Amino acid sequence: MAHNLEETARALVAPGKGILAADESDGTIKKRFDSIGVESTEETRRAYRELLFTTEGAADYISGVILFDETIRQSAADGTPFPKVLESQGIIPGIKVDRGAKDLANAPGEQITEGLDGLRGRLQEYRELGARFTKWRGVITIGPEIPSEYCIWTNAHALARYAALSQEAELVPIVEPEVLMDGDHSIDTSFDVTSRTLHAVFTELRDQRVHFEQMLLKPNMVLSGYGASERAGIQEVADATVRSFRRHVPAAVPGIVFLSGGQTDEDATAHLNAMNAMGPHPWELSFSYGRALQAPALKAWAGEAANVPAGQAAYLHRARMNGLARSGSYSPDMETKVAA
Ligand code: 13P
Repeated sequence: MAHNLEETARALVAPGKGILAADESDGTIKKRFDSIGVESTEETRRAYRELLFTTEGAADYISGVILFDETIRQSAADGTPFPKVLESQGIIPGIKVDRGAKDLANAPGEQITEGLDGLRGRLQEYRELGARFTKWRGVITIGPEIPSEYCIWTNAHALARYAALSQEAELVPIVEPEVLMDGDHSIDTSFDVTSRTLHAVFTELRDQRVHFEQMLLKPNMVLSGYGASERAGIQEVADATVRSFRRHVPAAVPGIVFLSGGQTDEDATAHLNAMNAMGPHPWELSFSYGRALQAPALKAWAGEAANVPAGQAAYLHRARMNGLARSGSYSPDMETKVAA
């Protein structure tokens, strides 16, 4: 089946829709399950992902889902492979292809993402399994004396190598440079580090001949550090984030799909809403949330089959709120009108 990468990239940021990140690695999903007292086994992980992927009505707000290696090979209880379950609702299946962030040599406290060796072969396999887009996450940490230019540029280089290989395999790359918001830094520091990171990422992407029209960017928002004593409000975050992206992200990129990065689910929605209310922008501003779409669903489910409908209602509600934030038409008072 021929498919046009630009069309897929645009479909992923269609008006009113965004992406569900359900690509938690084994270690991360175990952490999420620990928080609700559920053991992480292949079957509990499968059952939980089935809850999300079979939620009726989610396709009104969800354009694509990022899967993990184990998940793209799993099936719903009726035997339908998960990529087919999604496709049959018009949701595009994608896959995380990096192999995680490891310590960066000669750079205490900093990390580099692994997974380039053998990537060309793995991309072919994922395509055959039904994936139409991919994701790779680089991690930048803020602290005393860090991030170094060394860390920023090595991660940018790896992101561009991944993106070029992904386009070669006819898969839309979602390029994710995540500046972590842990720490007590100010929003000005966050602005500076995010801007330095975006500058490096787009320099490497251009040097490595990545087609901007055929990719999406998945960045952090520009926030105050979670431990900062004075934290910027919603409009200040929206202003700083849009200012940084206008300076560094080419208009040829169809969309910017933010990660939630540990914000509360309602903050993640409010920030996206405020940015879209400031539009129009050169690119679509959308979401690719993990925790901010899943947290209430995970809690409502709590590992019990009887709670699947409650979990699905909670997920659908968050998807709908973020769908409204895509056009700046969300307001916090909608939170109380939980979809039945
Ligand atoms: P969060 O929205 O929970 O940050 O997850 C998004 C993601 O895919 C991180 O890699």
